[in-house]
Amino acid sequence: MSAVPDFDTYLVSARVTAAEVIAHGVRLTWTDGVTTEHHRFVLRENSPDPATTHPLSREQQIQLTELPPDLEILAAAPAANGGLTVSWSTHSDSGVAGALAESTFDPGWLRTWASEDPAQRALPARVEWRGDLDLAALRFDGPDALAGGSEWGAWLAAIHSHGVGIVEGLPAEPDQIDVLPGRIGPVRATNFGPAFDVRTKTADVTSNAYTDLELPVHTDLDTREYMPGLQFLFCMMNDAGGGESRLSDAAAITRHLRDNEPEIFDALTTIPVTFINKATDTDYRHVAPFLVVDDDGELIEARWSPWLRGPLRASIADAERWYVAARCALELGDHPDFVVEVKLRAGELLGFDNRRVLHGRGGLDRSQGERWLRGCYVEREELHSRLRIIARNERASAPS
Ligand SMILES: [Fe+2]
Repeated sequence: MSAVPDFDTYLVSARVTAAEVIAHGVRLTWTDGVTTEHHRFVLRENSPDPATTHPLSREQQIQLTELPPDLEILAAAPAANGGLTVSWSTHSDSGVAGALAESTFDPGWLRTWASEDPAQRALPARVEWRGDLDLAALRFDGPDALAGGSEWGAWLAAIHSHGVGIVEGLPAEPDQIDVLPGRIGPVRATNFGPAFDVRTKTADVTSNAYTDLELPVHTDLDTREYMPGLQFLFCMMNDAGGGESRLSDAAAITRHLRDNEPEIFDALTTIPVTFINKATDTDYRHVAPFLVVDDDGELIEARWSPWLRGPLRASIADAERWYVAARCALELGDHPDFVVEVKLRAGELLGFDNRRVLHGRGGLDRSQGERWLRGCYVEREELHSRLRIIARNERASAPS
């Protein structure tokens, strides 16, 4: 296997058939007819030789400022490994970084970095859904997931693709809340602690979640600059009447608004809202639109806050636009066209993307019993990292 300047394994889908030196770089032609171009400093900084890439850390150990600014590729040719070999203009008076004569690059590394969106590497595509989602298809076996079996990776993939997945059959013990989430990455503590209990209280009621109230769908902690990316709710008991969990996909709602209600979409994606919490000992505030979208109008994050909003600071005209829009969106969020319901059972762990999938619950009738969920948060980027590592390990163990 060829050396690469990181710990990944790159599958080789094609080999270099021709290499042409061009201004400031090289143009490659591949066996499948694709051409790619590579800048001289991109190649030089990522040369896998041990003087450039530390053999243990695999981090770059030369500095860009050490490289001669007029460094050029003197010659380029297909390498025996199917990749590329380049000869560098050498500058023996400028130290190791300027003295390297030649580098050879792995074909899979060259091709992957030239053609693949690195942010999406190994991540399943987003699947948007509405009220007809078959949530049964997003249920996974707890004992297998705990043992690190295939259900573990499948659950994580579902949380990324659909924004939701349920692990069932876990021991209904309080400590279970962070066992699987903690294997994704560090649990993110908040002012509610590393884990929180969702059960009805009569004192110290710091959230509507701690009442019997029906909760419209929402995202948690919209008031934070960096909202928790993933939320996990573990069911200890659910014997009360009602109390079904409700979920809806803000990505699907955003697309619906973008395609059908452009004025509402515009108001919700541009008018800033002040999100504030109400508490005696914390005062979090964040200003952002209700829906944060990318250049294509695709949802990045929803701050779907039915109740954690301060007074809207906008002109009368903008406020009028915003309130019309927010009313429409909030109604859609709780509409059967978009909502799926599930009544969690003891030992079930619901994981979802807190910045995409909205969650709420039906009101509670505790004459029949209690409802007790435990919750915690993990960041989205921990899920991305874990999915990439799972995929990397699969590539490394795949027959070459
Ligand atoms: Fe919540």
